Amino acid sequence: MLSTTLFRNLWNFLRDSTPSRRRQRYGDMEFDWEHRVNTTSGTVGWRARLLGAFHSPYQPTEPGLFREMMASLPIAFDQFTFVDIGSGKGRTLLMASEYPFRRILGVELIAELHRAAEENIRAYKSATQRCLQIEAVCADACEFAFPDGPLVVYLFNPLPEAGMKRLIANLEKSLAENPRAVYVLYHNPLLEQLIAERTALKKVGGTEQYSIFSWSS
Ligand SMILES: C[S@@+](CC[C@H](N)C(=O)[O-])C[C@H]1O[C@@H](n2cnc3c(N)ncnc32)[C@H](O)[C@@H]1O
Repeated sequence: MLSTTLFRNLWNFLRDSTPSRRRQRYGDMEFDWEHRVNTTSGTVGWRARLLGAFHSPYQPTEPGLFREMMASLPIAFDQFTFVDIGSGKGRTLLMASEYPFRRILGVELIAELHRAAEENIRAYKSATQRCLQIEAVCADACEFAFPDGPLVVYLFNPLPEAGMKRLIANLEKSLAENPRAVYVLYHNPLLEQLIAERTALKKVGGTEQYSIFSWSS
């Protein structure tokens, strides 16, 4: 079982190292050109990619889809903190800063990606940016203590099943101790049944590409 997982992860890593796959990862440079940042997965070093193969490979969210997800949130942004679980090089943090969130927070396990996120937050150029309270933290999201106040929690395949179970248990505990409005935006919701089965959050919307769960006190 362990050796099968090890073999599969190594195989995925080697497949993603081929020249054609590398070219594909450079494919979404438009956001970076426009905002003078470096968020594409094409420039991630081999060490971070190898680590990613054993956790969850870095892949940034596509801007058009992000805007669609934001448009479907029925919230007053200025009351909510946006939290990206597995924030990678920080593209989602930057895209969220185009909305008037109270605060934006990202948690990333891999140090190389976290450093890139910090650099991108400094370098980001936008005349329409509406939130400047952006913080990136290098930590294991499974141990993450959710901040107080209403939350939008963003998930884009950050964790395998065991990690997701721990994250969801932490969110449930946080809500039991401190009831408040929470929306979970789950992009590519492969493990969404865990949220449905293990939390009081209810599915309130979505498409084939994402699901929205919500809870209010
Ligand atoms: C698919 S990427 C999403 C990146 C970013 N959220 C976005 O949408 O642009 C998933 C990220 O989760 C990170 N990750 C994996 N396991 C993690 C953990 N235990 N704690 C924090 N981040 C983790 C990976 O390193 C990767 O950067």
